Amino acid sequence: MRDRYETSRRMLEHARASLTGGVSSPFRGRVPVPLFFADGCGPRLTDVDGNQYIDYALAWGPLILGHRHPALVEALTSAAARPHQYGAQHALEAEVAQKVQAAVPCAKRVAFTSSGSEAVQLMLRLARAATGREKILRFEGHYHGWMDSVLISYRGAAEQLGPADHPVPLCNSRGQVANAVDNLCVAEWNRLEAIEALLEAQGEQIAAVITEPILCNSGCLMPREGFLAALRELTRRHGILLLFDEIITGFRTHLGGAQALFNVTPDMATFGKAVGGGATLSLVGGRREIMELMVDGNVAFGGTFNGNPLSMAAANATLTELATDDAAALRNANAIGAALQQGIREAALKAGIPVHVAGPGAAFSIHFTERDTLETYRHTLDDDKARLERFIRLSLDYGLYLLPDGRFYVSAVHGEAELDQTLAIVSRVFDQLA
Ligand SMILES: Cc1ncc(COP(=O)(O)O)c(C=O)c1O
Repeated sequence: MRDRYETSRRMLEHARASLTGGVSSPFRGRVPVPLFFADGCGPRLTDVDGNQYIDYALAWGPLILGHRHPALVEALTSAAARPHQYGAQHALEAEVAQKVQAAVPCAKRVAFTSSGSEAVQLMLRLARAATGREKILRFEGHYHGWMDSVLISYRGAAEQLGPADHPVPLCNSRGQVANAVDNLCVAEWNRLEAIEALLEAQGEQIAAVITEPILCNSGCLMPREGFLAALRELTRRHGILLLFDEIITGFRTHLGGAQALFNVTPDMATFGKAVGGGATLSLVGGRREIMELMVDGNVAFGGTFNGNPLSMAAANATLTELATDDAAALRNANAIGAALQQGIREAALKAGIPVHVAGPGAAFSIHFTERDTLETYRHTLDDDKARLERFIRLSLDYGLYLLPDGRFYVSAVHGEAELDQTLAIVSRVFDQLA
């Protein structure tokens, strides 16, 4: 039988001789077949073997307007004909910052970075400077970039995690400085009582609590009713800053981010991925007096590519599109996502496969689990990972491109045709899994 992915496999072998592992981010090497792509248009992708897919990976999130959206193509084409870098000020920076400010409740001031990992580092440094405290409280299963200071307890096997009310902080990479854990406390997410006890005991040393407002990196788990509002109240009571990492939720769940969706305003938040529509851009938005510590408070921050004209042009076009007609594009992405979730649940029920679909509309995850409630990273450890792998591989063979952890990202240009085709494929896959 012909290997559907033969050219990709050959190109991967070729790339491995020069590019480490043949991929530009080792996370990408973990999909069932690390595919090479030839083209993409709207919600669809074509690989180098000519296979066509509906794209639910969306480049790991950024492509909120799909591939080659006309507004983005036009903005980038005209920016490409102008200087690509000044390393100095130009008009679009403030224009984009204003758009972010208008949309995002906490963003009284904005600072641009290239990657989300950098944005998180800036936010943590500002939080420590603003409070004069060292420690950051983070949650199990949350991802805040790959830097030493935060790649802790993102992953861990059940036997490594320690007691639920006192998790053991775990470094997640070889080569990471071991004392990175000294500056962090780790708690289980969505567990208010344990968090409250921890803050009672150690609150005076804690500068900030950082959280993904929806736990997208461990299965798109939703915060319990009132959890984020309670965190807001608790942190305020202890003089601790509340930081939302909205690299995924930003400009995807709602134009104002998850903070607008849940009506809980943090002190600062990071945004990335969707804000550039596919171009390199992340940012921090936050309270004016905290953000301005980098101007007159001796908080160091830099970046050669910060605010570059190409990224700014892409963000300007993306934010304009997203804000049009009272955020109709995002409403569409979330409505199609909600319909997909419902259809997948129904197909699973029909096939007799225990499935839990979690998340807001435009980003959700499929879990093969008997659990009715999924609230913490620890709960996801019961998922049937082997079944998920088969699901992803069969879906790929039938034309759905998913992320390796079973996450679906939905763009503003996914429509009824993609919905119907996807649900037909998912039913077929479930029949084979049953
Ligand atoms: C919530 C969150 N924070 C931070 C990051 C790091 O962003 P980047 O990959 O742009 O460095 C990611 C990346 O996936 C993320 O999902």
